[in-house]
Amino acid sequence: MNTDPLKKKWANAIQTIADLSKGDPIHVDPLEKRWAYVILAIASLFVAIIMIDALVHDINPPSHVETIDSARLHLSKEFAEDNLGVQVDGNGNVTVRIVAGRYGFYPKQVTVPSGTPLKFRWVSMDVLHGIHLPMTNMNTMILPGYVAELKTDFPKPGNYPLLCNEYCGMGHDHMWGSITVVAKEHWTAPVTTASKGDSDHE
Ligand code: CUA
Repeated sequence: MNTDPLKKKWANAIQTIADLSKGDPIHVDPLEKRWAYVILAIASLFVAIIMIDALVHDINPPSHVETIDSARLHLSKEFAEDNLGVQVDGNGNVTVRIVAGRYGFYPKQVTVPSGTPLKFRWVSMDVLHGIHLPMTNMNTMILPGYVAELKTDFPKPGNYPLLCNEYCGMGHDHMWGSITVVAKEHWTAPVTTASKGDSDHE
């Protein structure tokens, strides 16, 4: 095989680079340079804020790594149909389990108490979904194969719309539900509350 043309090509390319670097350095306007530094400073500030939040304040993305078989949710202990919705364990901890699937949330509506720490556990039965509850910290992706866990506390009673915020197909626009928050003293724990559904992951 004749490699000469290839060698020549490489030699030319290297020569071109050498010529370029010999010439005058690229002219950068002083004003442009100053703005470049400002932008670098802003970017560094953002990175610093993220690092401090993550390492010092322990604020991390909600999706912790907990896997689940999305195709067999109905057979899983935790996300079987009877266990969905609001449950209270023996210690009074409130857990809400909701399954997202094209195109709805199951159950579509839950009622929770205000001013109470709540643990939400979300799973998808098919594709990627997301949830966003306007004006709260509830905002996460729901990846098939994973449990998305979120802790929150609704200070004010009201009706919060629950919207899917990841495009999941033709019916994405119609994928919604709601969370009703009632004053703590007016809230009654659901009856189906025994210890069942205490996760498959213990
Ligand atoms: Cu589910 Cu979009």
